[in-house]
Amino acid sequence: GADERINIAIDGPAGAGKSTVARTVAAQLGYVYIDTGAMYRAVTLSARRAGIDPLDTAALAAHASGLTITLAPGKEGQLVYLNGEDVTAEIRSRDVNLHVSQVAASEKVRSLLVAKQQELAKDKGVVMDGRDIGSCVLPGAELKVFLTASVKERAQRRFIEAGSALGVTLEQLEKEIAERDRMDEQREFSPLKIAPDAILLDSTSMSINEVADAIVSLSRTKLAEA
Ligand code: DC
Repeated sequence: GADERINIAIDGPAGAGKSTVARTVAAQLGYVYIDTGAMYRAVTLSARRAGIDPLDTAALAAHASGLTITLAPGKEGQLVYLNGEDVTAEIRSRDVNLHVSQVAASEKVRSLLVAKQQELAKDKGVVMDGRDIGSCVLPGAELKVFLTASVKERAQRRFIEAGSALGVTLEQLEKEIAERDRMDEQREFSPLKIAPDAILLDSTSMSINEVADAIVSLSRTKLAEA
């Protein structure tokens, strides 16, 4: 029906354009955008600051359970707060990039964050991006999209976006993205995988707007069915 709201899950590997696409789709539909990767990044930043080894699962779990992570809409995208401190920029640092997969592999961290994500989506009308949204966080999401692009294309996009700030070459970035994909796909708990009812979208030769338009149009179809 016309005034129904649905939940939209957008999953896929690093650099596929998920966050920009999800933000654009949310703005067009008047929905709330939730970047779940930012939550894993905030836990990672906090653990690194506290000197916790991301591979020390017990210490990491204890640390994560004491954190308050809040997401809020900002002028240029979502703002991320860690215990009240704005860490929006810092969670994109290279140090966080290099350690976040280890943190995201922790079963306890995942269950803490998944519960929070489910709570945020319970009233519907969210566009949530991540790796396990369609398969695990919101298995009942009315629309599930799995967004991919080639490793080369994803590295190029990240490089244009933040390459100089990260202080890495395109080749390094390509290697790091491939390594992060491998870790995200092979981890034991909630690995990156395509939900059986997800729609696969390869954005390698599409613009952000083309991808966003395709998803908005899919969501209108789902809304008409709802
Ligand atoms: O999308 P991103 O690069 O901000 O994600 C950061 C890391 O968090 C990445 O290694 C994958 C992981 N992640 C996850 O395991 N599950 C999610 N729902 C979102 C991100």
